[in-house]
Amino acid sequence: RNEREPYVVTSKGFTAAAINAAAKAGEWIKSRQGQVKELGSKTSAQDLVTEVDKGVEQMIRRLILTHYPDHAILGEEGVMPGTDAVTAALEEGRKHEYLWIVDPIDGTTNFVHGFPFYCVSIALAIKGELSVGVIYDPIRDEMFVAEKGKGAYMHGIPTSVSSETEPGSSLIAMGFPPDRTFAQPANMAGLQHILPQVRGIRAGGSAALHLAYVAAGRVDGYWEVGLSPWDCAAGVLLVLESGGKVTDTLGSPYDIGTRHVVASNGYIHDFLVSALKEAEATGHKR
Ligand code: IPD
Ligand code: CA
Ligand code: CA
Ligand code: CA
Repeated sequence: RNEREPYVVTSKGFTAAAINAAAKAGEWIKSRQGQVKELGSKTSAQDLVTEVDKGVEQMIRRLILTHYPDHAILGEEGVMPGTDAVTAALEEGRKHEYLWIVDPIDGTTNFVHGFPFYCVSIALAIKGELSVGVIYDPIRDEMFVAEKGKGAYMHGIPTSVSSETEPGSSLIAMGFPPDRTFAQPANMAGLQHILPQVRGIRAGGSAALHLAYVAAGRVDGYWEVGLSPWDCAAGVLLVLESGGKVTDTLGSPYDIGTRHVVASNGYIHDFLVSALKEAEATGHKR
């Protein structure tokens, strides 16, 4: 890390708090890889949770509340994904003014298997508007930071989406949430429509890192159906502040409650949205 710019260059206040929490969380997670003691499941047998997810979320909560005791926090492990409780927490958060949206480990399945592709994701929404987004990959020691209106950075260097305009030359990322009822068929239908038209597809198992990779120009686009706010809030701000575009799968503007997400460099956005609309028309209803 010393050879690079420090994480915090000019950041102060909220952003520095998010970076600090993400860095501490990331180090802890990395130190626990391969040593999980309690492996449980949530909404389905494929929806994993470990003591590390829970412990890291508690730690991030404590770190945020130490600085900002009256702020609201929506963390994945504090609420059942996909339920009305999430919608209620978002609504409450909008009223609250400051809402932190936290995914302690995005990519828990990868973490459990020792597949080195997972991250910590922390976002701050002010009155429902994304204002800070931080994603930390502890394996590669990559800290992605976005501030609304001020751009996005990785270790002090501005990130920028790719300039690819041709779907046929594009590398696209996607994912499969543990929801095997609605989300899996919808994502499969999208895959079938998009794969024949692009250079390649990657499904790495971390929505947040895939969004950070769109921001950094490492993939040209990403979509996934059935996400939760903590999977994408920080990543969405990174993409927007890196010059990209984010909508839902019908092309409507992203909001912190959006669950079906398309992110891209902007140039191939219409292609992705049209292909997903076709996929939906030929098969799967939301
Ligand atoms: C999951 C990952 C995965 C995505 C799922 C998410 P988690 O988050 O981001 O890549 O496909 O939709 O639920 O449970 O590992 O935090
Ligand atoms: Ca999870
Ligand atoms: Ca997640
Ligand atoms: Ca998680």
